[in-house]
Amino acid sequence: MAKVHLKKLEKTYPNGFKAVHGIELDIKHGEFMVFVGPSGCAKSTILRMVAGLEEISGGEVWIGERIVNNIAPKNRGIAMVFQNYALYPHMTAYENMAFGLKLKRTPKKEIDKRVRKAAEKLEITSLLERKPKEMSGGQRQRVAVGRAIVRKPEVFLFDEPLSNLDAKLRVSMRLKITQLHKQLKEEGQAATMIYVTHDQVEAMTMGDRICVLNYGKIMQVDTPINLYSKPANKFVAGFIGSPAMNIKEATLEEENGDVMIKISRDFSLRLPDDKTEKVRKYIGEKVWFGIRPENISIKNIGVSGEVSVVEQMGNEQYVHISISGEEYTARSSSEKALLAQHGEKYNFVFDMKKCHIFDFESEENISL
Ligand SMILES: Nc1ncnc2c1ncn2[C@@H]1O[C@H](COP(=O)(O)OP(=O)(O)OP(=O)(O)O)[C@@H](O)[C@H]1O
Ligand SMILES: [Mg+2]
Repeated sequence: MAKVHLKKLEKTYPNGFKAVHGIELDIKHGEFMVFVGPSGCAKSTILRMVAGLEEISGGEVWIGERIVNNIAPKNRGIAMVFQNYALYPHMTAYENMAFGLKLKRTPKKEIDKRVRKAAEKLEITSLLERKPKEMSGGQRQRVAVGRAIVRKPEVFLFDEPLSNLDAKLRVSMRLKITQLHKQLKEEGQAATMIYVTHDQVEAMTMGDRICVLNYGKIMQVDTPINLYSKPANKFVAGFIGSPAMNIKEATLEEENGDVMIKISRDFSLRLPDDKTEKVRKYIGEKVWFGIRPENISIKNIGVSGEVSVVEQMGNEQYVHISISGEEYTARSSSEKALLAQHGEKYNFVFDMKKCHIFDFESEENISL
């Protein structure tokens, strides 16, 4: 059993830069946890501390029932897969996969069994005698994953393993890794996986839960669906979802008993009753107003806006509009959106039941 606990984890690099600020995170045994966040938010630093490749400045890393702060990487029961594969160029795929086990003096027969089984899982049996330079990027990445599997680690650590692959290969490798996680569970060898990416689609589709990081701090840890529909703060709201949530500065005002979001002098939106109770004490104050592109639609009624650009996705359209001087993105597959022309005016309806309101200072979601 290998749950991973990070307790008050801190990292200060030798140059004095503090990269990780007191991370508290419990990853369950067999869970697929994704770390996501902008470049430089310390995803790799945290993963490398779990792996033992980076010194821990403060706090504890637990793997299973042990504190591993002072345990060598090779004794932590982990295997790591990197972006650049890090295969030995002079060895065949088979030798690359077998190498770690050979060092541990695993019997030849056992090595052969494990390598062939992993190769079968990853569909690379026919490539076992090839050297890395005779393989495509995706095939090399599978060998790198295979090399991790044969060690039967309790914890897999992936640091952007697919970012060197083209879009199509990324999708198929993404599925392979998700399937691998499921298969291991079904075989009674459930492995805990921590997967770093800055690709939102990977994060949303692969993770049991996602940990969103920013500047070395956790912004939210939750299931993909909850992150999307109940972002805890403005950062998560803006980071998860593509195209991004529309977020505007606004003021909350009371008007004839209704609570209005006033975005500009001539543009206000009425809040539905279930939300007004939650935000009543913010009346008269500045807030952030957020609404996802799919919650703005072109209708015959609603507020008038001018289309600046239409992005054609084939199955849907991203319609960029200007409403009283502010830019918004609407996302729709309706006929009206399909026919929208730049420079033309249309009416837009905001589905206010789906909007979010954030505290202006703390940026916490106050409308949940
Ligand atoms: N050896 C180092 N010395 C000083 N600062 C470092 C060192 N390594 C990383 N950093 C800094 O620590 C922060 C976190 O870096 P890290 O590589 O963990 O980010 P990341 O989230 O993995 O980013 P990316 O998505 O670009 O891979 C960054 O601001 C980085 O500049
Ligand atoms: Mg990184």
